[in-house]
Order: sequence, then C-alpha cells, then structure tokens
Amino acid sequence: MVPGFLSPSLSRLGLWASGLILILGFLKLISLLLRRQKLARAMENFPGPPTHWLFGHALEIQQTGSLDKVVSWAHQFPYAHPLWFGQFIGFLNIYEPDYAKAVYSRGDPKAADVYDFFLQWIGKGLLVLEGPKWFQHRKLLTPGFHYDVLKPYVAVFAESTSDMLDKWEEKAREDKSFDIFSDVGHMALDSLMKCTFGKGDSGLGQRDNSYYLAVSDLTMLMQQRMESFQYHNDFIYWLTPHGRRFLRACQVAHDHTDQVIRERKAALQDEKEQRKIQNRRHLDFLDILLGARDGDGIKLSDADLRAEVDTFMFEGHDTTTSGISWFLYCMARYPEHQQRCRDEAREILGDRDSFQWDDLSKMTYLTMCIKESMRLYPPVPQVYRQLSKPVTFVDGRSLPAGSLVSLHIYALHRNSAAWPDPEVFDPLRFSPENASGRHPFAFMPFSAGPRNCIGQQFAMNEMKVVTALCLLRFEFCLDPSRLPIKALRLILRSENGIHLRLKSLRPGSGK
Ligand code: HEM
Repeated sequence: MVPGFLSPSLSRLGLWASGLILILGFLKLISLLLRRQKLARAMENFPGPPTHWLFGHALEIQQTGSLDKVVSWAHQFPYAHPLWFGQFIGFLNIYEPDYAKAVYSRGDPKAADVYDFFLQWIGKGLLVLEGPKWFQHRKLLTPGFHYDVLKPYVAVFAESTSDMLDKWEEKAREDKSFDIFSDVGHMALDSLMKCTFGKGDSGLGQRDNSYYLAVSDLTMLMQQRMESFQYHNDFIYWLTPHGRRFLRACQVAHDHTDQVIRERKAALQDEKEQRKIQNRRHLDFLDILLGARDGDGIKLSDADLRAEVDTFMFEGHDTTTSGISWFLYCMARYPEHQQRCRDEAREILGDRDSFQWDDLSKMTYLTMCIKESMRLYPPVPQVYRQLSKPVTFVDGRSLPAGSLVSLHIYALHRNSAAWPDPEVFDPLRFSPENASGRHPFAFMPFSAGPRNCIGQQFAMNEMKVVTALCLLRFEFCLDPSRLPIKALRLILRSENGIHLRLKSLRPGSGK
C-alpha cells in the first residue's frame, strides 16, 4: 500500500508519464503522416486501384488469389501502380521489363521497411546487407559457387533424391494422391546441408525436421507481418501471439544453425579433418566462412557468421523446394512435355545409373521446361528496393530518391507484351531462337543486376538433376479434386499443398 504522503507525487509522475507517451505518440504520428505524404506525392503520376482508408491494398493482397489480383491490376494499369500495405508503407509496384531494368540494373538498397522484418531471424546476412559490407561478403562467398565446387554436388543431389524416390515407391503403391511439397523440402534441405555445410550421410535428424517446420512458419508469419500495418512496429508485434510465435520459430532456426556451426568447428579441431580440408582444391561455403579474415587478419564475428549460415540455410532450400514442386505440378498438368523430358533424360543417361556434370548441359528440353515453369510459378514472386537516387522510366514518368519499389516477378512473367498468351505453358519460348530477341529483364526468377541470386547456378543444377531423376522413376498425374491454390509466403507455396498421383515406372511395377 502506498503511504498517503507519497500518493500526490506518484500520481503527478503518472500524469507526466502519460503526457510524455501522448507527445511521443503524437510526434510519431506526425512523422508517419509526413512520410505518407512524401511517398504518395512521389507516386501521384501513377494511377492505381482504389485504396481502403486504413488498410490500403492489404485486404485484397491477403485474400486467396492475390497474385492473380495483381495480374488483373497490371492489365488495368500498364507498367506500374501504387501498392499500399496500410497507410504508411507504399510501393510503386512494377511489372514491365523496361521499368524493371531502370531499377534492378542499378544496385539500390533493399527496402528496409520489408527486409528489416528478416533481422530477428536471419540477421544481416548477404540478403539484407548493404554497402561495403555487402560487397565484401559477396566477394568472399562467390568462390563457394565456383564451377569446380559445384561439380561434385551432382552426386549429392542424386543421392538425396534417391532416398526421396524410394519413399515415393511406397506411396505410389497406395495409388492415392499425396502432397509432394514437404518431401521435396526435406530432400532439398538434406542436399543443401551436405553440399554447403559438409553434413555426413546420416540423413535428416529431428533437429533438421524442426528447422524445416520452423521455416515454413517463419515465411508465413513474415508475409502476414508485411501485409498487416498493425504488426509493423517491433514493440507491438513482439507483444502479439503472432509475434511471440515468430520469436519461438526463430529460436528453433537459431538452435539448428548454432549446431551446424558447432559441429564444423569441432571437426576443425581434429588434425586429420583439417588436413583433408587443406588438401581440397576448393573450399565449401562453411570452410570459406570459418577461414575468412579481413585485411587486418580478423575473423568474421560470431553474429556475421551466424547471419550468413542462417541466410543460406533458408535461401538455399526453400526456393529450390518451391521450384521443383511447381515444376512437377506442371509436368503432371502437361503430360506431353513430361514425356518429352523423360525421353531426353533416358537418352542422355543410356545404360548408366546416374547423371554426371557433363550431362547437365545436354538436358536442353528439360531446362526449357524448368524455365517455363519458373516463369509461370516463380519461386520468389516479389522483391523490394528503396531508391538511393531518382529514376526516370522509359515513358518519362519518374520517382524521387527514397521511393519504395516492388518488383512483382509473378506479374512481370505474365505481362502479355513480353509473353504472348502468357497463361499457356510453352517451353519453346526458351529455345535459343525465341529467347534471343526477348528483353533481358522480361524473365527474372533470380532477380538481376548486382543483387541477383548468388545461388542461381547451384539451384539450376539441383533442379535439373532432381527433376530428371523424378521423371525417370515415376509418371506424375494431377488429382483434379485437389488442385493447388497459389499462396505467396515470401516464396511461392500452395495453401493446400501440391497433391500428385505417382505411377512407378520401375521394371516389374506393372507400368
Ligand atoms: C530456384 C531457386 C532460387 C530462386 C528462384 C532464387 C531467387 C532469388 C532472388 C529473386 C533473389 C533476390 C532477392 C531480393 O532481391 O530480395 C535471390 C537472392 C539470393 N539468393 Fe537465391 N534463389 C534460388 C536459390 C538459391 C540458392 C540455392 C541459394 C544458396 C545456396 C540462394 C542464395 C541467395 C542469396 C544469398 C541471395 C542474396 C544475394 C545478394 O543480395 O547478394 N538462392 N535469390
């Protein structure tokens, strides 16, 4: 109980505190309104769909089918339109090759309004870094994707795929459709951990599985946070049930990362292991990070090391999972292309058991189908920038420095000016003759310019090996009662999974 003589000063303190909170709140509101005014004025030459007074376009964007909603807006507003997540974050949403080139050929920074939401999870790794530190890390890590490093990964991809396919033999016998997405995800995580983090042959453990589930949660929660203005403030978000769920999932991801780093550091204590690494002509990604020194011989800090491992662990498996799963869906949907890819793979393989490095460049039809499937189902459908200097677009309209830009890769890939009959699955769009005259910024699954995907070659190789092996072992068919519903969760997923029916092609399976 507070003694009577103290209560007047306590209540005065309470009054002062409430007054201060009110003033701070008021100042924050003024700064947000000024910001809104600046962003809105910058985009006044760009008409767009009507906005809700409070939510902007967030309600429409959160609905099922939002990706195709943006495509319909793109028909109405050629080149670009404003896109508001609430009242205070407004992007110019672009989906036209010349517009994309004007921004993405330069090295403008990532939009902090979106990418800062990553910080609690993947820290300041390559995806989020800016300026000289980004340049230093990109230069440091590029040799980890050198062609000589990538070569032996072909065998690793084949090994992880074979484990998945053996599991699928059993499911195929049940003659029912099943969701392939999470099996592909576990296979892609297994491959990544073996290739870039030097994991042994033991297969995924319980911790890896928890990591896989945590990433699925984190991508869903991040997307929801971006689109919900009430979650934009850190302080408020961490107090909500979704914010606390995000923190719990981050903890699971960080435990996994710490374990991977700890195990490799322990292995490095072992002299035999050290000699083995020194004798390797090319180091893997984790060797490079652990051995990195700056000009003064100082190692990467623990925070930098963890951020890079977290970044690559996420970017390196979730994106390829989406790419491979949607590709198999396309094959099921277009059986004539499925058969052509299978025939090509059979011919390349001959009487051998598995693919080798030189085979990858011979998979021409399969590569065209992979590109066509990434055109229609880009694994990363949207990326964001903040302009460091003004930009003038091809039609004379411009944006000042500080403006926010969203590149809608999904809508760009369905822009009928660049892609006639955009909804038609036609791999021949990517034949050398047809591709040669196309705008270089019309197809951007890996983004473009200085901040493009560092793992592009790794990803293409993985997708070729995995999908060719899948098609050799199974015929993939749709389940018309469970067609996938596209969902943007940072990467392209499906609300209801990707359900396919598989028929084994193994001799003796009766097919
Ligand atoms: C089909 C597979 C993949 C697709 C479609 C893809 C797509 C992309 C895109 C669109 C970006 C630009 C992101 C942005 O601007 O915010 C990006 C960046 C990045 N990707 Fe990928 N990616 C794939 C696979 C991979 C793999 C396998 C790795 C690593 C092993 C990887 C690592 C990265 C990293 C570290 C960045 C940031 C690069 C930087 O800013 O310097 N990606 N990726």
